[in-house]
Amino acid sequence: MKFFADTAEIAEIRDLAATGLLDGVTTNPSLIHKSGRDFLEVVKEIAGVVEGPVSAEVVALDHQGMMREAEVLRKIADNIAIKVPLTEDGLKTCKALTSDGTMVNVTLCFSAAQALLAAKAGATFISPFVGRHDDVGFDGMALIADIRLIYDNYDYATQILVASVRHPMHVVEAAKIGADVMTAPPKIIHQLFKHPLTDSGIKSFLADWEKTGQKIG
Ligand code: E4P
Repeated sequence: MKFFADTAEIAEIRDLAATGLLDGVTTNPSLIHKSGRDFLEVVKEIAGVVEGPVSAEVVALDHQGMMREAEVLRKIADNIAIKVPLTEDGLKTCKALTSDGTMVNVTLCFSAAQALLAAKAGATFISPFVGRHDDVGFDGMALIADIRLIYDNYDYATQILVASVRHPMHVVEAAKIGADVMTAPPKIIHQLFKHPLTDSGIKSFLADWEKTGQKIG
């Protein structure tokens, strides 16, 4: 499963990229606002740090407006994926852009029917928001399982990008279902490394090693 960081904070992205485990980045208008940076500038900087796809979201709601914004965004770098909302105009834009060889991430997906439409529109990525789905009393992971089943039934190439990830178990469940990608805030990716038994194991090994009085090298 590919790991994307869901952030527009360049320092956090550099930090994760240094682990060698980062496959891409997703941004959205709220994350750009949080960064306090100029949208085009920060996306360009991120696309220079990460080799994989960097999602940049349009804000127009009509097809022509989305196409105009996508034109600006896709010129930033070759690894930009244009993020469009799951609406009729969004999917029309998705079809036009992917037919032209541009990566498209269809965002704000909350149903299997919507995911089916995105695949038919040739989306590179579909982003079901599991955390926000859970928040309103639905089962976000059941949605991922349904989309996996449908995409496998028809061999759709659209990659399932699990979004709105809130904790490490979302990541594990997504991997068990066979999602292609997950995007999470850096804090959650760092939590994946942690286990209290790893920490206590290191502590006791180091205490015993100290007692041997030896050194390596
Ligand atoms: C996905 O691409 C979105 O940026 C993101 O995962 C939204 O997550 P949130 O529900 O935590 O805002």
